[in-house]
Amino acid sequence: MEPDQIVRTFVEHYRRRDHRYAPESSLVRPPDDPVLFTTSGMHPLTPYLAGRPHPSGRRLVNVQRCLRTTDLDEVGDRTHLTVFDMLGSWSLGDYDIAESLNWGYELLRDGFGVGPGRLHATVFGGDDQVGPDETAWRTWTALGVPVELNREENWWSNGPTGPCGPDSEIFVWTGEGPPTGTPGTDGRWLEVWNHVRMRYHRHDDGRLTPLPQPGIDTGMGLERLEMVLRGGRSVFEGEGLASWVDDVGGLWPLDGTPLRRVCDHLRSAVVVIGDGVRPSNTGRGYVLRRLVRRALTELWRDDPARSLSALPDEPYADTVRRFRQHSDVDVLRRTIADEEHRFRGLLRRGRPVVDRLRSRGPLTGEDYRWLHDTHGLPRDLVDGPLAERG
Ligand code: ALA
Repeated sequence: MEPDQIVRTFVEHYRRRDHRYAPESSLVRPPDDPVLFTTSGMHPLTPYLAGRPHPSGRRLVNVQRCLRTTDLDEVGDRTHLTVFDMLGSWSLGDYDIAESLNWGYELLRDGFGVGPGRLHATVFGGDDQVGPDETAWRTWTALGVPVELNREENWWSNGPTGPCGPDSEIFVWTGEGPPTGTPGTDGRWLEVWNHVRMRYHRHDDGRLTPLPQPGIDTGMGLERLEMVLRGGRSVFEGEGLASWVDDVGGLWPLDGTPLRRVCDHLRSAVVVIGDGVRPSNTGRGYVLRRLVRRALTELWRDDPARSLSALPDEPYADTVRRFRQHSDVDVLRRTIADEEHRFRGLLRRGRPVVDRLRSRGPLTGEDYRWLHDTHGLPRDLVDGPLAERG
């Protein structure tokens, strides 16, 4: 199934159950939000989960572009992306977890063809403040889906304070042969969907109080779902990444983690720029700067002559379309080219500094820190393109 068809199937499934489409938000949060980027589909809906009536009613569905920098160091493996699409459904004081899990299960089985034999669920097993989620456990058991109980892993919140609650995560088996173990014991169980019972508000002092109206918040990563539906081994084999992987991999002899990092970071940078961010040394602009510079660091490790201007328009245009943005490809290219130019200048100026340090002996941890903090030179570059005497 193509991503567009997956989205249609998801939205239709919930529309038939009286959900209305909630408009998608920008990745850029308004100034009064302490978080820089939209990190999940529920994030823009926080006031409504906390009790404010939503203009579209009590049942919502949408697809929302999200950015998660907490996983930046994990990017490069098979399943983590910095920017991704999240398919979401919500009950704002309407139905509870049993309906949510049953409808989710029906969609996976009938809409996407994933039967119970490939599914495993996890459920909140209780802690000293909140009891175990017996309803979720009973619902999965009645459906014939095996369940594992956890504590912290099955408690969801979008930050240290605000709406939160126990969640039930759905895993799909991605290994060869029949499933073995549980999500906790075998990494071939891949988490695709999370159903959260939004029931509490966490206060600054850590206290939990019940929300005025308990709700349901679900989120499923589109690229991961596409991966499991195509029986693929990596999100980078999917349609949404294909043009980056083909063009980056066709121009330069990269593969494995370096290729995946370059593709993820450039694609993410395109979406971030599309929402109006420009590279800078603080906040959102700094995240964007890091994305572009980390991609260049991978590229320049073997050959500093490589330039992103060699890439065709195709992956840029494809990403703009997939993330429902309206960016001008020339503006995207120019923004990234300017950042490449600045980073190249930094390296040129850094070379004599690194050479001078090296002439005194091998670099120490403190030298690396100083080069990074004072001259903006990541260790990868110091040991890569800057390792040779200029
Ligand atoms: N908000 C929940 C998540 O992002 C669904 O996992």
